[in-house]
Amino acid sequence: MHNLIKRAAADLAASNHAIVLTGAGVSTESGVADFRGPKGIWTTNPQAEAQAYQRYERFLNDPKAYWEEMLDTVGSGSYFYRQMREVAPNPGHHAIAHLEQLGIVKCTITQNVDGIHEKAGTRNVMHYHGAVEKLRCLSCGSRFGVDEYSLEKLPPLCRCGRPLKYDVVHFQEPIPTDIMDAAEEEAMKCDLMLICGTSAVVYPFAALPAMARSRGRGASGVKIIEVNADPTPLTHQGISHYLIQGKTGEILPLVVDEVGKLLSQRDKHE
Ligand code: APR
Repeated sequence: MHNLIKRAAADLAASNHAIVLTGAGVSTESGVADFRGPKGIWTTNPQAEAQAYQRYERFLNDPKAYWEEMLDTVGSGSYFYRQMREVAPNPGHHAIAHLEQLGIVKCTITQNVDGIHEKAGTRNVMHYHGAVEKLRCLSCGSRFGVDEYSLEKLPPLCRCGRPLKYDVVHFQEPIPTDIMDAAEEEAMKCDLMLICGTSAVVYPFAALPAMARSRGRGASGVKIIEVNADPTPLTHQGISHYLIQGKTGEILPLVVDEVGKLLSQRDKHE
């Protein structure tokens, strides 16, 4: 394990455009359950997953009914919402923020809707599956803070007059094109991709590493590193160059320490 941590630190320190991809696994040490791990939301409650697959269709057919259900589930009165408001970053989130402050990580693309990366101080965050604190118009693409609407009159309406939905991307819902394009641009631009806490089974997000890897070898090649509690299809298919298996909250701070040592050695020699 220690060699892999040193290897990841050396790869990060040598990179020119590193990006980070994250999933629910980076937030479990903050007390937010993941989806498909042993204690995951879908693993422990398959009915909730089946319900989640109906949400997008429900919004398209009956936005008012969608909102009534959502307010119960994730609305400001719900446990989920309160938890999202109170939850704090863990050392894994802080390590990613630190790598950004060092100028090594250029962008963090997350599947998480919890907003914890920003709480840890990470600035350049792309919410690939949306954010729980926002509303979005499917018609004109506008986004609003959830606090900008009283949610007494349902469904809330966009300035363009169309009903708004939560910004969170539901199953079967297309990823907003602005986010999808920006994420693909980063995958095509990066020379290192650090993938943390995701089972890498949900598409199109899970296609980003292969997209980057397909850019070939040598100078134009990309280093793909996973930090995850378990191997994933990226590991098994050889899309990632290596996996550091364990908890992101324990491993990422060690990687950052090693990067710090390398950068100070580099400064001494310059
Ligand atoms: N450190 C490292 N890995 C962890 C940790 C941890 N502390 N805790 C859990 N993991 C790993 C799990 O073993 C699992 O492989 O993180 C992964 C989390 O995978 P999922 O639960 O599938 O979450 P994610 O990949 O983010 O799901 C993708 O699916 O349900 C939808 O929209 C939802 O954005 C979500 C998407």
